[in-house]
Amino acid sequence: MSARMEVEVVTRREELRPEALRGRAAVVIDTLRATTSIATALAAGAAWVLPVDSEEAARAAAARLRDPLGEAPLLAGERDRVRIPGFDLGNSPAEFAPGRVRGRGIVLCTTNGSRALHAAAPCAERLYCAALVNAGAVAAELGRTGAERLTLVCSGSGGHFSVEDFLTAGCLIERLGAADGLEDPRGEALRLDDAALAAWLAWRSGRERLRSIVEPGRAARALARVGLEADVEEALRLDALDVVPVLRDGRLVALR
Ligand code: MLT
Repeated sequence: MSARMEVEVVTRREELRPEALRGRAAVVIDTLRATTSIATALAAGAAWVLPVDSEEAARAAAARLRDPLGEAPLLAGERDRVRIPGFDLGNSPAEFAPGRVRGRGIVLCTTNGSRALHAAAPCAERLYCAALVNAGAVAAELGRTGAERLTLVCSGSGGHFSVEDFLTAGCLIERLGAADGLEDPRGEALRLDDAALAAWLAWRSGRERLRSIVEPGRAARALARVGLEADVEEALRLDALDVVPVLRDGRLVALR
């Protein structure tokens, strides 16, 4: 990365103005759990993930589309964190195992993450999704392509700010700085808006104790209330997956 990169952070999907993404690269983040699950699915060999904004749209897409295996795509998603009745999969990363998803198309409907992706898709010049599990891979790709203007979209949860999304944004920013050999990403190559600067500072202060910050957070507590605390564990596996989900023709695929 050589040219100066301007980085802004949107702290909740409700603050996203999709038209403002025109001419920008964007990364949607929903660490608990949609983008962790998407990264897991693509790393496990899923052919594509189509993010949609409603259960009706998910069912209609599944009825219309075929995946590379000639099958109707898998329907995945949650309502109030549990699997939507009649869907094949919920939104737990562990459900997207190779034996279940390899070669398959997946239509994904979640409360926040798939909706943020669906909203950003028509406008962003390039669209990726990231979570803690693939932050390093996505940051490396952003550094390689040298986007001049980048928006990190934190999905949040039910209209609320989510600390794990903000930390993931901060992690990406730090990695972008590191890719340029900078100790301080406020230096030469990155120009951060206030939210991006705060995300970077949060990451710097919290990266050694992610669990103790994320577990008491709103989204993690909500998952624990329905017995899904193992999903938080999965989502905290920093850099576990070397996969870059990128939007191609409306679907997320693994960048090759
Ligand atoms: C979402 O997209 O709203 C989240 O991934 C919710 C969840 O399933 O934990």
